[in-house]
Amino acid sequence: MTTFWSLYVTVLSLGTIFALTWLLLSTRKGQRAEQTDETVGHSFDGIEEYDNPLPKWWFMLFVGTIVFALGYLVLYPGLGNWKGVLPGYNYLDNEKQTPFANGQSGWTGVHEWEKEMAKSDAKFGPIFAKYAAMPIEEVAKDPQALKMGGRLFASNCSVCHGSDAKGAYGFPNLTDADWRWGGEPETIKTTIMGGRHAVMPAWLDVIKEQGVSDVAAYVLTNLDGRKLPEGLKADPVNGQKLFAANCAVCHGPEGKGTPAMGAPNLTHPAAFIYGSSFAQLQQTIRYGRQGVMPAQEQLQGNDKVHLLAAYVYSLSHGDKQADAE
Ligand code: HEC
Ligand code: HEC
Repeated sequence: MTTFWSLYVTVLSLGTIFALTWLLLSTRKGQRAEQTDETVGHSFDGIEEYDNPLPKWWFMLFVGTIVFALGYLVLYPGLGNWKGVLPGYNYLDNEKQTPFANGQSGWTGVHEWEKEMAKSDAKFGPIFAKYAAMPIEEVAKDPQALKMGGRLFASNCSVCHGSDAKGAYGFPNLTDADWRWGGEPETIKTTIMGGRHAVMPAWLDVIKEQGVSDVAAYVLTNLDGRKLPEGLKADPVNGQKLFAANCAVCHGPEGKGTPAMGAPNLTHPAAFIYGSSFAQLQQTIRYGRQGVMPAQEQLQGNDKVHLLAAYVYSLSHGDKQADAE
């Protein structure tokens, strides 16, 4: 903060407090000291006001808030560049003299959080590191590791994938055998570390509305063997040609998917995250889809992601321990 803004904030904060103090004391001076049933004289809709002094406890409450405000401003950094006199916020860890991420000392909510994180890293870091050195399949058999992984999942992943990891519209189920990007332990870890951005192009301009219907009909009838809803004008045979020409590059000639680009298997509609009804298929094909799995490397770091990968892996590998959680 520049000196000007620092001064501005300081003068404004202290000025307000002093002005309020003055207001409180000056209005008190003019008041009578004893209780009375006289009114101040005005009447609004028949409501009148007694001319009584502020109750003492009420006055003291005001004084209390003013004292609190001043005390707070001495302890915490509320006045411009003033850092506050609270001790222990010079460095994250006084022995190692590691500075805070922003290189500044003093109390802030962020520093408070960083301190807590450093404390828990010191406590749990070695446990995470122990598991990080083991292969993911091994970690996935360790009940303590799965418990820790489950907690990490609950606080970081369940908003999107659901607390049971079974997914929702737009978010894949992580407990089944269908993988958009691959279900090998290391691949799961890569997905979580770096995130994924799926790109399904929009087709309306290329193959037009009839083409969209035809290819949707092909996906629905030939690839997953359901019946076309009655009364639809769609030609699955033409759809097959369109599929071979436009879709097979990504979804494969048999529609079995290409994990390297996150193009899902289209022969297994139970795993479709955007729905598998005829109308939903048309919608997906017409306008395309762009699913984004956010990268966790910066947020969690390698060791926690390793545990998360083991937890996710365990969900589809029939371990009773994971189910029991
Ligand atoms: C450039 C590669 C690419 C091409 C070409 C492509 N797709 Fe896709 N498709 C994807 C990707 C990647 C996804 C996953 C999108 C997501 O997860 O958000 C996807 C998703 C889908 C889905 C949704 C599956 C679900 O989970 O709900 C359908 C249906 C589909 N594609 C059909 C087609 C059809 C039909 C064509 C040809 C007209 C086609 N795709 C062409 C890459 C492609
Ligand atoms: C903001 C929502 C969101 C959050 C939070 C999130 N994910 Fe995802 N995740 C997605 C989406 C969307 C996809 C599908 C991307 C695509 O369309 O291919 C995905 C895909 C995945 C996949 C790949 C599934 C497959 O079939 O290949 C894994 C594994 C995964 N997430 C694990 C996690 C874990 C573990 C966490 C917690 C650290 C997490 N996700 C947090 C949205 C999220």
